[in-house]
Order: sequence, then structure tokens, then C-alpha cells
Amino acid sequence: MLVLGAAAGGGLPQWNCTVGASGPLWSADKAHLHATQSSIAIGTDGHWTVVNASPDIREQIIRQPLLHPTSAPGDAPRRTPITRVILTNADLDHIAGLLSLRERTAFDLVATRTTLETLAANPVFNAVAAARRISVDIDTNFSLHGGCKARLFSVPGKTPLFLEPSGGTPEVGNRTEETVGLDVRSGDGKRLCYLPGCAAIDDEVRRQVHGSDVLLFDGTVFHDDELARAGVGEKTGRRMGHVPIAGADGSLAQLADVEVGRRIYIHINNTNPIWQPDGPERHEVERYGWEVAYDEMKISL
Ligand code: MLT
Ligand code: MN
Repeated sequence: MLVLGAAAGGGLPQWNCTVGASGPLWSADKAHLHATQSSIAIGTDGHWTVVNASPDIREQIIRQPLLHPTSAPGDAPRRTPITRVILTNADLDHIAGLLSLRERTAFDLVATRTTLETLAANPVFNAVAAARRISVDIDTNFSLHGGCKARLFSVPGKTPLFLEPSGGTPEVGNRTEETVGLDVRSGDGKRLCYLPGCAAIDDEVRRQVHGSDVLLFDGTVFHDDELARAGVGEKTGRRMGHVPIAGADGSLAQLADVEVGRRIYIHINNTNPIWQPDGPERHEVERYGWEVAYDEMKISL
């Protein structure tokens, strides 16, 4: 498994931002610390599933030789090892990259019916006509390559930002098909759970991730009010559909007793202090056994 993009929407640094972790990363010698937007890839042997199509997908493919197009003599001239894209929601940082996959090569586009309806309602995605839309039901296994099985499960979530009622406040934390987690089981029974967006942690979330060998979990914000602290916005993490890391209701405390192998924060916003390798917040998450994802991180199941 590969982390293609460890950052939340906006990436690191974010185009308009000089505070938080973004500030120091605008100097040319810091390019190796940049992080692209939210995506992972799962696969082997020339068959890869990309989970969430980041706006940075072209750069992510270029950086990752395993995802490069291949063609042996006699093959079609355009061939990609990416045979499937799974979406965990219809947030822009997870769907905008579909528009970069529009060059007529077929692949399976797997998501809940709700997420596929969101795409269907927006004609710009008609440009990705070669993608075979495959709607899967919650809690129903489907096959990936190499003997892996996958399953989507619903988590407390939120409607995509671009569909929020204007002037109103959307409901946050409902368990609908809009926001899901992905559970992947390898042929030999190893499990990976990936939840880049999760608005709250309750017993059901704990039950779903319990026993996974690798948990990749929503690390968008460390403090719920982190955007306000940085002077860049009023919305809390929870209002954006992301449970914070810190605090009694945060993921550090709420997942502390759940049995998992590796626990890794992903979908990390550029305001999140855990980007600082020597900062107190990074040390705190590490004390709880968490790792912090980075672009091109390789994780074997
Ligand atoms: C989120 O994770 O909350 C979304 O990516 C926000 C957005 O669409 O900009
Ligand atoms: Mn996002």
C-alpha cells in the first residue's frame, strides 16, 4: 500500500497560505517536505486501486513508478496499472482528480450510490466517460486484485462542502452513505482500514476498526479550533466533518483502547501542528503509538 497524498484538501503548502505548516515550505529547498492531497493506492503485480482521486493525482502518478503506464510490444499504446478508483466521499479533494483521468482509458469507479449520484448530477464528470460506475452497498464485500476483498462502511460524516446549503449549517455526524470508511482484507486475512474523514468516534467506529493491522485515520486537525487559532477561518474541525486529534472526544483518547496494529494519521490539514517533526503535538501523538503519514510512505500489509 502506498500513501499518494498525506495532506488534507489544500495540500502542504496551500496555495494561499503562509501560516501553520505552510509558511516555511515556500522556500525552494523545502520541496521535499511538501505533501499532496488525500489519496492512497493499494495493489501489486501491475494492478492498482487508487482510493480517492486527489487534485494532485497526475503528480502522484509521476512520482510513483509502480503507477506509471506500461506497454509491452504489441500492447495497446495506452495502458495503465490503475484499474480501479474507490471514493470514500465526494469531497473535492477526493473527486477533482477524476478529471485528470479522462483520456478514454477504462477503469472501475467504485463508490456508494449516493456518491455516484453526486458525480452524475455534475455534468463536468461526463468527461470521465470511460470510467465504469460501480455502486456498492455498505457492508458488502467486493473483490480487489490479488485475492484482496474490500468493504465500505458508513461513518459519521458530512455532505460535501460544495453541496452545503448556502447560508445554512449542514448536519454533521450523520451516518449516511455520503462518508464511508474502507476496510481491505488481504488474501491471508490482514486488514487495513482507511477513514480520511470521520466526524465523531462512537462504539460503532471503534467496532469497525477493531482488529485491523493498519489503521489510517482522519488527522485533519489537532485542535478542534485550530483554524481560528491560526486566524484562517472560523470553522471547527467537527463542523468540517473531522473529529480533532486532541481532547476528551478526540481520536487520541477515543481510539486509545482499540486494538489495532499500526495507527497512522492521514488527511492532515496544513494548520495541523503534527506536521512539525519535533513539536510537542507530534511527540504527543507518538506517545499514543501513532505515526504520521507522508507522501510516498509504503505500508506492507
Ligand atoms: C474536507 O475534507 O473537509 C473537504 O475536503 C473540504 C473541501 O472540500 O474543501
Ligand atoms: Mn478532505
